[in-house]
Amino acid sequence: MKKHINEKILGTGFWLVVFVIILAVMTGLALGESGKGPDNPAVIKSSKGNISFSHEEHVKIDGGCGACHKMFPPKGGQIEALKASGKIKEKGVMNMCRDCHGKLMAAGKDTGPTADCLGCHKK
Ligand code: HEC
Ligand code: HEC
Ligand code: HEC
Repeated sequence: MKKHINEKILGTGFWLVVFVIILAVMTGLALGESGKGPDNPAVIKSSKGNISFSHEEHVKIDGGCGACHKMFPPKGGQIEALKASGKIKEKGVMNMCRDCHGKLMAAGKDTGPTADCLGCHKK
């Protein structure tokens, strides 16, 4: 009787735990801090002037890839798609970018633009 119960636990709960661990490890690898992101700059379309985003400039920041990719997946065109479907608000990503730049600026560290619109909206 006891053996039967143990087998049942191993049958469902155990494999669920294993599955969750594998999933967590895979997500960790995909969004890990070990990579540096793609070399080619990502272009974010904007009516104010498109933004050419460089991963290279952002490899040393706190939070690793998740600093930005918890908001949108690491795939081209995602910001545009999520804005179109209303999942992220207009200027939502911009505010996230500027928040970090602003905090670093206040701390006197090297960072990107906050008030200079053309610093991001280049073309
Ligand atoms: C400071 C913000 C930020 C950080 C940190 C960041 N990314 Fe990105 N990433 C972006 C933006 C912005 C895009 C463009 C998204 C879009 O086009 O909608 C992007 C796009 C991507 C793409 C798709 C590129 C393409 O051309 O299709 C990949 C892959 C990617 N990131 C991987 C990573 C990895 C790996 C890391 C960590 C090493 C990382 N990113 C860290 C902002 C960031
Ligand atoms: C740190 C980079 C950065 C700076 C600085 C910046 N922006 Fe943006 N802005 C973005 C990004 C990225 C988007 C597209 C994603 C979004 O809507 O959040 C955007 C989107 C916008 C939009 C939404 C319209 C659209 O089609 O994308 C407006 C309006 C805008 N910016 C105006 C401004 C103005 C005005 C300034 C200067 C006061 C400014 N931005 C400075 C990064 C920036
Ligand atoms: C967690 C902090 C953080 C976030 C989030 C962040 N940045 Fe930055 N950004 C930095 C730092 C740090 C630098 C300065 C890097 C250096 O000088 O080594 C920088 C530099 C820049 C520069 C100037 C690069 C150059 O060529 O001089 C631009 C443009 C920029 N970021 C755009 C963006 C945009 C667009 C986003 C949002 C999609 C964003 N950043 C999100 C920290 C951040």
